[in-house]
Amino acid sequence: QMEDSSNIVWHQHHVAKQQRAQQKNQTPCVLWFTGLSGAGKSTVAGALENRLVELGYHTYLLDGDNVRHGLCRDLGFSSQDRRENIRRIGEVANLMVDAGLIVLSAFISPHREEREMVRDLVGDDAFFEVYVDTSLAECEKRDPKGLYKKARAGEISQFTGIDSEYQIPLKPEIHLNAGEQTVAESVEACIQALKRHNVIS
Ligand code: PPS
Repeated sequence: QMEDSSNIVWHQHHVAKQQRAQQKNQTPCVLWFTGLSGAGKSTVAGALENRLVELGYHTYLLDGDNVRHGLCRDLGFSSQDRRENIRRIGEVANLMVDAGLIVLSAFISPHREEREMVRDLVGDDAFFEVYVDTSLAECEKRDPKGLYKKARAGEISQFTGIDSEYQIPLKPEIHLNAGEQTVAESVEACIQALKRHNVIS
């Protein structure tokens, strides 16, 4: 006759991330792509995800299209907002790692401290910083969205590389010379690194 919850017993059904990932024979982790706007983060991360899926792995790609229009739609590009952007993405990436996935994320993430914050959250063993190293000159030449031109003309403020700082990674796990190498070469470099670290076999 008692209508409280005192007789409810929680079942112990904790499934660990290793068990979830075992189905796919993969080690859950985050590949954290960082670099200037136009460096090629989304392109390489997207191509790498395609390759991983072809090989039978279970992945998820977090990038501007599915994050800045949804989860982080309330945020702009002040230092404070970028920090919150990365914090939320880091938390989501961490949950996805717990779900057993290989997570790829493609955000400028200009501040070292925030990238380290995510590393600490997911754990050093599961965090791979991927520096998409394309020079400012090359990014500006590409200018796929015309944003550098606008930034130079003063129509956009706080633009990364122009009037907002980008702090280069000091010891990235993967360093891509994306200005010189092809997308296919960058993807291959990532695949080799993932094999070396036993994320995939
Ligand atoms: S951050 O710094 O990690 O929070 O940025 P991110 O979420 O990756 O968003 C970067 C994309 O937003 C566009 N954009 C700007 N980038 C930098 N600075 C300013 N002020 C800015 N305003 C808009 C830009 O197209 C970035 O796209 P990508 O894909 O990086 O080229």
